[in-house]
Amino acid sequence: MPRPLFRAKVEDLTTANEAMKRCLRLAALAAKSEVPVVLLGETGTGKTLLAHAIHNSSARANKPFIAFNASAMSDTLLESQLFGHERGAFTGAQQTVKGKFELSNDGTLLLDEISEMSPLAQVKILHVLEYGEFERLGSEQMLTCNTRIICATNCSLRERVREGKFREDLYHRLNGLTLLIPPLRERIEELPALIAAELKASAFNEGKTITAIHPEAMDKLLAYPWPGNLRELSHTVRTMTLFCEGRVILPEHVIFPPDLKSSSPPPAPVTETSPWPNGQADGVRDLSLAGAVARHVRFVYDQAGRNQRRTARLLGISRATLARHLRGKVQK
Ligand SMILES: Nc1ncnc2c1ncn2[C@@H]1O[C@H](COP(=O)(O)OP(=O)(O)OP(=O)(O)O)[C@@H](O)[C@H]1O
Ligand SMILES: [Mg+2]
Repeated sequence: MPRPLFRAKVEDLTTANEAMKRCLRLAALAAKSEVPVVLLGETGTGKTLLAHAIHNSSARANKPFIAFNASAMSDTLLESQLFGHERGAFTGAQQTVKGKFELSNDGTLLLDEISEMSPLAQVKILHVLEYGEFERLGSEQMLTCNTRIICATNCSLRERVREGKFREDLYHRLNGLTLLIPPLRERIEELPALIAAELKASAFNEGKTITAIHPEAMDKLLAYPWPGNLRELSHTVRTMTLFCEGRVILPEHVIFPPDLKSSSPPPAPVTETSPWPNGQADGVRDLSLAGAVARHVRFVYDQAGRNQRRTARLLGISRATLARHLRGKVQK
């Protein structure tokens, strides 16, 4: 049996995507040092998984890994969660409880959604980072801690500093190495392997034998923008496994949430192939040939129901070339 994902080390994580390779190379460096790390990525891109992997590959691997989300929490609760409390410290505190800093001593503490932390939480965390000590609520005894901090955020901390929502001093304390985790829609090279691995696991769990994915079902999966990233991919594959009654995943088994904008609407018949549907160039400022090509590609893509295989066939180009056009990577 493969190792459960939360036990994975950085070197267990593989990718076919260049930006993700860079991210994993930095993660491997981060694991070998004690430098503070900020993991920046959209929801579901694998920030928690990567924080875990950095811990698992580090010298702290045999010590605790604690994840803590400090957003949307009252100040008293937050303090007691971070630093713990003594019995009787406040109404309802019936026993002494250790906080996250104490629990993660010698190990790693993941501060999740760090950009959403209240000003008080920011002051308290800065104090521990500067002095390496804290007190439980209701106690005067100073406790020291040797915790490695990793932060996760889905928005730029520098931007939050600029907006006056995040302390600059804390930002400089936390921001040793920023690892940018690209969204899944920019890692399409990874999709086939990720889908295959998820499908294998979910078919095993459902006791089904699934041997293939129909090419049109695969096209649907490849064309979808995955707003929920790897988490959504995992749920989608689980659902298609449930719907599949034979050995092959068919297009109708691939279902995306109706409330999120799917990039696979029913394909419309391709009636026009002009970038200017009425044959008019009025209002189009970029009259270069490259600009016209870019508009034409977009136009055919939309007309083809955003199905990349169909678009590439209609345009008479390869899928890889189409992908470059869609990413705007074609030289102008
Ligand atoms: N490289 C990967 N291979 C397979 N599954 C992955 C990978 N990265 C993440 N996942 C899975 O995707 C899901 C989301 O990952 P994770 O919780 O780490 O994302 P996140 O960025 O922390 O999300 P959030 O912003 O909501 O906290 C998890 O089930 C995780 O196991
Ligand atoms: Mg997370």
